[in-house]
Amino acid sequence: MTNTAENTLVLVFHPHLESGSVANRRLAEAARGVDGVTVRDVYALYPDENIDAAAEQAELLKADRIVWQFPMYWYSSPSLLKKWEDEVLAYGWAYGPGGDKLAGKKIMCAVTAGSTEDEYQRDGRFRATMDETLNPMRITTEYVGAQWLEPFAVYACTPDDLSDERLADAAERYAEVLRG
Ligand SMILES: Cc1cc2nc3c(=O)[nH]c(=O)nc-3n(C[C@H](O)[C@H](O)[C@H](O)COP(=O)(O)O)c2cc1C
Repeated sequence: MTNTAENTLVLVFHPHLESGSVANRRLAEAARGVDGVTVRDVYALYPDENIDAAAEQAELLKADRIVWQFPMYWYSSPSLLKKWEDEVLAYGWAYGPGGDKLAGKKIMCAVTAGSTEDEYQRDGRFRATMDETLNPMRITTEYVGAQWLEPFAVYACTPDDLSDERLADAAERYAEVLRG
């Protein structure tokens, strides 16, 4: 197997993917339609947020490319992704002695944001780009020896701004990236 969509694991972290999400639900649907991509709705898997780290690690081992898909919440991810990192990227597994299980894999963020791309600029409202906002995840990725891929971002994901057309376009672009 090569590093193609055949071995891509998309981990979706949205607290209400099926009941409240518009953007992430559509992106997850697009991902499910790509050959060989496995999508896991992590909040639905662990409604009590009691993550099965061994099960998550077993899924990660099968993947060449890992995607963390989530809505931007307070310039970071929903909290379960942080908990997932803390518990799944364990000492002796992801780092430290023998901790090389993610070395050589690729990691990508797929993010939806309520704010506009203009706001995510050095000279914009937030004085930081999306890449810079995701720095903790990039550094984590590189710390565990994985390769950081260019993030996929969809901006202005609000009921007023996200037209059906723009959503369809984002879903198609996402599928293309995953087909990569
Ligand atoms: C708790 C919370 C925090 C949010 N924080 C941000 C933020 O920091 N930056 C931003 O651009 N959008 C923020 N948003 C907007 C969400 O990113 C946006 O609603 C989401 O990406 C839309 O995707 P969905 O339809 O899948 O829920 C926030 C939304 C919520 C509910």
